[in-house]
Amino acid sequence: MLYDKVKESADFIRERITETPEIAIILGSGLGGIVDIMEDKTVIPYGDIPNFPQSTVMGHAGNFVIGKIGSKTVAAMQGRFHFYEGFTMHELTYPLYVMQLIGVKNLIVTNACGGVNRSFKPGDLMIIDNYISFLAENPLIGNNDDRFGARFPDMSEPYSLELKEKAIKSAEKLGIEYKNGVYALFTGPCYESAAEIRAFSILGADAVGMSTVPETIVANYLGMKVFGVSCITNMATGIATVKHSHEEVVRTANEASEKLCVWMKDLLENW
Ligand code: HPA
Repeated sequence: MLYDKVKESADFIRERITETPEIAIILGSGLGGIVDIMEDKTVIPYGDIPNFPQSTVMGHAGNFVIGKIGSKTVAAMQGRFHFYEGFTMHELTYPLYVMQLIGVKNLIVTNACGGVNRSFKPGDLMIIDNYISFLAENPLIGNNDDRFGARFPDMSEPYSLELKEKAIKSAEKLGIEYKNGVYALFTGPCYESAAEIRAFSILGADAVGMSTVPETIVANYLGMKVFGVSCITNMATGIATVKHSHEEVVRTANEASEKLCVWMKDLLENW
């Protein structure tokens, strides 16, 4: 990753904000509601930021929204980049490098995903305990710049146990039910085959999705602590009795979004 390019992007954002966000949040499909509970917002379209990847495929707006939740200044990414859109792993994780130079120390990553664990049901929220990532290229392949992180980063705790403990305390206080599990990355854009889901179930996956893992790897590399939460929007292929549809995914995520917002607001207030 080219340091000077990232610095140019970070400087552009820094000039437009008054407080350094400590925490970044990446909002998954249908989970954008967190932006509505932010106050004193500064909205920076991705298209305005020099060197930032542009989402051309879906035509949907992407914004950095910096604002307050409780006493915390947070940077929300409204719209993320996916491998299936044709972005390289470097392009789709570029925002994380920018966040590091802005001063972000923690990442909350959210997504919509398919449930593999048969005890799950659509609408469930799953704390991500760990990931499986065999199917896509590692986002750290390429020259390493030590100013960002080490060549061979440790991944023994990709999701911070400390943040998980805080999130569990908060969920218990609020009476929010949650599951725990392992998230396996598929590249998409097609949904998985039933045989793939059977295979990954044996390998230990509880959920499958098309995002989150590259961002998790890069955030760890950059020295950030990561908390991940998935919304189970459907049961995965072969477990579900109906065919998948993106509309159904977004609808279920929207329904769960309110619960997730209440939870994340409390987590941020008691960070
Ligand atoms: N598979 C992969 N990604 C997904 C799914 C799924 O079943 N549901 C939502 N995102």
